Amino acid sequence: HEFMEALAKAREAHSLEHQEILILLQARGEEVDALGRAADAVRAKYLGDEVHLRGIIEFSNYCCRNCLYCGLRRDNRKLRRYRLTPGEILAAARKAAGLGLPTIVLQSGEDPHYTAPVLADIIRRLKEEVGVGAVTLSVGERSFEDYRLWREAGVDRYLLKHETAGATLFARLRPGTTLQDRLLRLKWLRELGYQVGSGNIVGLPGQTLETLAADILLMRELDVEMAGIGPFIPHPQTPLAKEPPGELELTLKVLAVSRLLLPRAHLPATTALGTIHPQGRRMGLCFGANVIMPDVTPPPYRYYYQIYPGKAGLHEEMETTLVSLKNLIFSLNRRVGSGPGHSPKIQGGM
Ligand code: 5AD
Ligand code: SF4
Repeated sequence: HEFMEALAKAREAHSLEHQEILILLQARGEEVDALGRAADAVRAKYLGDEVHLRGIIEFSNYCCRNCLYCGLRRDNRKLRRYRLTPGEILAAARKAAGLGLPTIVLQSGEDPHYTAPVLADIIRRLKEEVGVGAVTLSVGERSFEDYRLWREAGVDRYLLKHETAGATLFARLRPGTTLQDRLLRLKWLRELGYQVGSGNIVGLPGQTLETLAADILLMRELDVEMAGIGPFIPHPQTPLAKEPPGELELTLKVLAVSRLLLPRAHLPATTALGTIHPQGRRMGLCFGANVIMPDVTPPPYRYYYQIYPGKAGLHEEMETTLVSLKNLIFSLNRRVGSGPGHSPKIQGGM
C-alpha cells in the first residue's frame, strides 16, 4: 500500500514528493519500525558503522536574540550569563583532544562580544597549537565578511539550523529575524566552502506535519552535510513554558526520513533527544543518526548553558560520559569514528 511504496522509493531513490514524505511521517506501529530499519540500512550502506564524536564547547550563553523557545533569550533575566576566555576555550579543547575527541564544535548564543577577529584568532590557535582535526562554528547569524574571515582562519564547518521552514512560524518564534535571512546565510556559507549544517526543531507550537515535510525538503535542497534534528523542550523561563514537548516518536520519524533523503549527511543523535527519553540517543542511532556531540564545556559553565531544562549528562564527569557513550556505541555493534570525520562528499566518497 501507500506507506510501503513511499518507503521503497525513499530507500532506493532517496527522493520523495512532499505528499510521500507526509505518508512516511504518519507511520504508526509496525510502520515506524520499518521506517527505522530502512533508515538504519541506508546509514550503514553510505556511512558504515562509525559513530563520530564531536566535542562541543558552549563558550558563551549571552544572546542578543529573543527566540520564544530558548532559555538563552535575552529577556531571561534569571539566567546567570558567562563567557569563556580564549585561554579557557583552548584548555577545554586540549582536554577534549586528550580524551580522544578529534573535532571540536564552538557554539554560543548570538554574542557580538566575540568579534570576528577575536574568534578567528581562537580558531587559528585551536588548529595550530592544540592540533584540533576539524573545527565547527555555530554562533548564529553574522555578516558575510565575518564568515569569510573565519573560513580563512581554518573553520571547516558551520552549523546554522534553519529551525523551521514555516516562514510565518519562524518570524513569530524568532522576533526580528526572518527565514529568508537565515537561508541567505546558509547560501553564503556554501559559497565560502564550509561544510554546511542545518536542522530543525520537532514539535514547535504551531508546527504541522506539512511544515516538517517542508523542513526535510529544504535540507535536501540545501544538500546539507549535517543536520541537527531534535525535539522541542519547553523551558520554564520562556513564553512557551506551558507548551507540550515534541514527541519522541515524531522526532525519530523526522530523523529517519531525513536519513533516507540525505543518505550521506552527518546526523547527530541530539542531546535534546537524549533529554526527552533516557534511551533517546540510542534510538536516534538506530533511526539513521551517526554522530554524537558530547558536551565538553567546563563545569560550572555548562550548567548555565540552559537552552532547555534537564540537559542529558549535565552532572557527569566528561570521562564518565565518554565511557557510557562508547559503551552505547559498542552495544549497537558500531565503532567510534576515527580521524576528523569529514563529510563523505568532501573526502571524495561520492
Ligand atoms: N528545545 C529544543 N531545542 C532548542 N533549541 C533552542 N531552544 C530549544 C528548545 N527549547 C535549539 C535550536 C538551536 C540549538 C542551539 O538549540 O535548534 O539551534
Ligand atoms: Fe539565541 Fe539561538 Fe537561543 Fe535564539 S535559539 S535565543 S539565537 S541562543
